[in-house]
Amino acid sequence: MTILGIETSCDETAAAIVVDGCRLVANVVESQIDIHKVYGGVVPEIASRSHLEAIIPVVDASLHEAFCEPDCSRISHLNLITDNIDAIAVTQGPGLSGSLLIGTLTARSLALVYNKPIYGVHHILGHIYANFLDMPAADIFPMLALVVSGGHSQLMLFQDHLDYKLLGQTQDDAVGEAFDKVAKMLGLEYPGGPSVAKAAEQGDPKKYQFPIAQMSGRYDFSFSGLKTAVLRTLQAEINESYDFPSFKLSGRLNHAQINDVAASFQSAAVETLVRKTKKAVEEFKPKTIVIGGGVAANQCLRSRLTERLDIEPHFIAPKLCTDNAAMIAALGYYVSEARLPDDPNNLTIRPSWGL
Ligand code: KG4
Ligand code: ZN
Repeated sequence: MTILGIETSCDETAAAIVVDGCRLVANVVESQIDIHKVYGGVVPEIASRSHLEAIIPVVDASLHEAFCEPDCSRISHLNLITDNIDAIAVTQGPGLSGSLLIGTLTARSLALVYNKPIYGVHHILGHIYANFLDMPAADIFPMLALVVSGGHSQLMLFQDHLDYKLLGQTQDDAVGEAFDKVAKMLGLEYPGGPSVAKAAEQGDPKKYQFPIAQMSGRYDFSFSGLKTAVLRTLQAEINESYDFPSFKLSGRLNHAQINDVAASFQSAAVETLVRKTKKAVEEFKPKTIVIGGGVAANQCLRSRLTERLDIEPHFIAPKLCTDNAAMIAALGYYVSEARLPDDPNNLTIRPSWGL
């Protein structure tokens, strides 16, 4: 079964083609990072306008990549859907409303025009299903999944495909959001995760002792206290009081302070994730551990999980950790095995879709 996946929930316009939920034949991601960088974060209106401009060329490019010779001279590849695509999967939520609208309306139009079944799927589950693009999906349950992205931090236990229990989640900021906010305080480039990780390579992770949140829910996370602790530390470093504005901090910090705070923050954030994951591994004894979402690309998280867990987690290429449509097409395959398609005339966006 060949599925065209479409993803536009945040700031990446993406289309991909996946066979049987595991064989990736095309993966096109048009990132808006350079557009949003100047504002230090995603601007929703700009994001939806950029999706609108990019979506058809991105879908077209995925069809070219999957089914054509590199030098093919077709002006449009959309008609290739007729004979080569069995179904369309699209991110229905959660995400930014305007951004989700562009992806779902495009998918609905293609489904109607080419008479293909359509499946609206969950973005967070997609991050988990990205793992099956390079892992056999048989004999893997129970499977523990850690989702760590810009908008989400969750621990989930799967007994079978799509059959999961939410063990815990962040009670405030997502871990990626904390990386992005700390990067802003340190004057590092958006997106914050990769720039904090890079600065941390030159820093001392033991220089500052940042708190590891203890939560009443056994598997819940919290990152807002950690973020505030970083702010207070930086204000103290430059001898200012707690009301000194965070956006003026970076101009007063030297390289050593930036790198040491980045390393100490990263270490505390990673430790929070590792402790909860380890606890869940001890309690539920999963056969497989998978990680998804942008922060799964973080090298410090990967090596500390490998060191501290009894079974080696499954890691995927960084390109499949951040938002992409391959994960949506992979998930779409399992959803199509489990239920009937959605109505292409009525598939609505679900911006706050919970798990
Ligand atoms: O999954 P994703 O692309 O989008 C959401 O669904 O939210 O995740 C983006 C997040 C951003 O917060 C970004 O800073 C973070 O993932 N990120 C990283 C790294 N690469 C991306 N965080 C830490 N280390 C990285 N190497
Ligand atoms: Zn995501």
